[in-house]
Amino acid sequence: MDQLAITGGARLAGEIRVSGAKNAALPALAAALLADGPVTLANVPHLNDVTTMIALLGRMGVTVTVHDGLRIEVDPNSLEDCRAPYELVKTMRASILVLGPLLARHGRAEVSLPGGCAIGARPVDLHVEGLRALGARIEIEDGYIHAEAGRLHGCELLLDKVTVTGTENLMMAAALAEGETVIENAAREPEVCDLAAFLNSMGARISGAGSDRIVIRGVPRLQGTQYRVLPDRIEAGTFLVAAAMTGGRVRLREARAQDLGAILAKLREAGAAIDSGPDWVALDMGGRRPQAVDISTAPFPGFATDMQAQFMALDAIARGVGTISENVFENRFMHAPELQRMGADIRLEGHTAVVRGVERLRGAPVMATDLRASAGLVLAGLVAEGETVVDRIYHIDRGYECIEEKLRQLGAQIRRLARGSR
Ligand code: UD1
Repeated sequence: MDQLAITGGARLAGEIRVSGAKNAALPALAAALLADGPVTLANVPHLNDVTTMIALLGRMGVTVTVHDGLRIEVDPNSLEDCRAPYELVKTMRASILVLGPLLARHGRAEVSLPGGCAIGARPVDLHVEGLRALGARIEIEDGYIHAEAGRLHGCELLLDKVTVTGTENLMMAAALAEGETVIENAAREPEVCDLAAFLNSMGARISGAGSDRIVIRGVPRLQGTQYRVLPDRIEAGTFLVAAAMTGGRVRLREARAQDLGAILAKLREAGAAIDSGPDWVALDMGGRRPQAVDISTAPFPGFATDMQAQFMALDAIARGVGTISENVFENRFMHAPELQRMGADIRLEGHTAVVRGVERLRGAPVMATDLRASAGLVLAGLVAEGETVVDRIYHIDRGYECIEEKLRQLGAQIRRLARGSR
């Protein structure tokens, strides 16, 4: 199991390119199952979660060809088996995204329940209820969702909670349904908009994505297409926080400021100067120590839960006291005790963390517990005195492309240790 060793203290400076978004690439790969011809996806990030989704499609008999690393061609016509097995689903919850497309296009699906997850229960009840309302017969047996349907039929869906992959699953299923589907209380995340645009390029008729009311007029078939995955706003946000924590400056190419609204507002509040153009964002901290900020996570356009751990790391070394409230997931503070081991002053009160900034963190061996928690630990390592070794970084490899290379490009002292190489 690899580790990352970071020697803190370097002030980050320079320019890097933001990769394609994991959370747009995964639904797009699943949506390719809806087409009746090959789909080519560009700007797909090289990540473990993407590899898992490709393995899942391959297991179903779908032909997936990876060209030059970033371009992936999916030919769904060779599909033989509509089953997503536990061994793959348990490593990546987003595997649930194949449920809607399989059902809509092939009339059946067997998808393992994702099971427990480090950041809370994360049920999929809203996916299942929505598909039932669209006309699917669904049984849950032996840990699997067994679903069957003739052609799905459009209906009104009111989601009890805002769910990103739930909205995506239902939008994909409804794209091939007969008649009109309306999703109320839909997720408004940029990745949902991007999936709608991708489906429309396949011939779907979807409007309203980006608002909380999405209207899908079903079509009988969807054709193959070419599509470029949008930039990863969470990766972009993580590098901006890294630069801010070190008092540095960074320019991100292929970053979209319009997707980063709440994150940029908090960075400005922390004292950063931010500038942006149509496809770049720059941050300059001018050598200053950040000011603590209060964070309260919420669905988009609110503050992303996927940036919460990174801002906890920022507050840990900021001037003043910051309060961090996690409202999306029930158990997403596992990075707090690890940050405390590095000398952070954090008090947990239910779903709120009160973080009193300290002058200096100390390097320590720490353990990554989930994808974004591990990003928070890497950021803390960048400003800690001495060496921090982050263990279990397979979590970080699920969602960050070449994180250590990109940080090194900005001047960080970071290296990957293969197990046993120390
Ligand atoms: C997606 C993102 C993830 C991000 C999260 C919240 C992908 C692949 N992953 O995850 O990075 O952290 O959005 O922005 O896009 N819920 C239910 N029942 C359901 C579905 C969800 O109760 O059927 C609850 C969840 O437990 C959670 C909340 O709704 O408390 C939001 O979860 P959801 O938006 O569904 O997260 P994901 O789509 O899994």
